[in-house]
Amino acid sequence: MKKILIIGVMGLLGPELAKAFRTDENYEVTGWDMPDIDIGDERSVMEKVTSLRPDIIINAAAYNAVDKAEEPEGFEIAKRINGYGPGYLAKAAKTVGALFVHYSTDYVFDGTKKEGYYEKDKPSPISKYGESKYLGEIKVQENIERYYLIRLQKLFGMPSNNPNAKKSFFETMLSLAKKQDTLKVVDDELSNFTYAPDLANKTKHLIESDMPFGIYHITNEGAPVTWYGAAKILFELAGIKDIGIIPVSSDEFPRPARRPKYSILINTKLEPMRAWPEALKEFLLEYKQ
Ligand SMILES: NC(=O)c1ccc[n+]([C@@H]2O[C@H](COP(=O)([O-])OP(=O)(O)OC[C@H]3O[C@@H](n4cnc5c(N)ncnc54)[C@H](OP(=O)(O)O)[C@@H]3O)[C@@H](O)[C@H]2O)c1
Repeated sequence: MKKILIIGVMGLLGPELAKAFRTDENYEVTGWDMPDIDIGDERSVMEKVTSLRPDIIINAAAYNAVDKAEEPEGFEIAKRINGYGPGYLAKAAKTVGALFVHYSTDYVFDGTKKEGYYEKDKPSPISKYGESKYLGEIKVQENIERYYLIRLQKLFGMPSNNPNAKKSFFETMLSLAKKQDTLKVVDDELSNFTYAPDLANKTKHLIESDMPFGIYHITNEGAPVTWYGAAKILFELAGIKDIGIIPVSSDEFPRPARRPKYSILINTKLEPMRAWPEALKEFLLEYKQ
């Protein structure tokens, strides 16, 4: 039996990871979040990991407040949790001989490559959040050789139990549609979506494979869309007809952080996952219950 430690188990992805491994009797799963562990505290990370001695560590903890990270205080927190924390975990994983799995984002890219980004493309973030996640990628690679670094984008899934959790885009749209007749939705930032249970299962496959260590892009397939395109598909699939959606430019909703305009993550290494609208159908069935 393998001991697996999942960090960030109260987030959006963490519970799906815990489910994927807990349903397999070959794993003994430990799930930690704040306050069980603070990944920004180097000494405590080393103490806790060396006392548990897991075979595998998956880090799904992050600071995902993209706009707050533009402020000096937010950027310090982002660097601590998204940048240095993964490095401390990677170092502790190496000390106990564990495999280390970490997640990053399309926001490490500048979004000028319309055709999309390959795993080997060099990041050049245009936001402080993107900088902090890129720092995390560097720190992981500096501290351990046995790692899988998985980039994903626009995660969605069942709401987590964490009271601080931010709503995923589809949840936000569904709740706005209950209150408004028309919605203005930004018609840029072309990319794909990632369904948390699919990503969790694919992470498990990757861990159990003999694939080389390194960077992977894992998102659902399907035609890339803007937020507006995604909202249209959502309302069609959910059978919501009495809603007007108006495409607008991101200039209509100015936000502190810049987002990449085109950030399709191209996967050249793994079997592709199902198309995101298929995953969205499954999400809607579960969400409506
Ligand atoms: N969500 C997306 O659309 C998206 C897109 C691209 C990449 N990603 C990446 O995918 C991964 C999973 O994201 P997610 O959306 O599941 O994140 P999430 O829902 O924000 O969950 C992250 C969890 O980490 C916890 N955490 C924060 N600081 C911590 C610390 N210092 N020590 C230990 N735990 C801490 C959070 O607790 P609190 O909430 O109490 O702080 C939360 O429970 C992350 O690496 C993220 O950057 C996500």
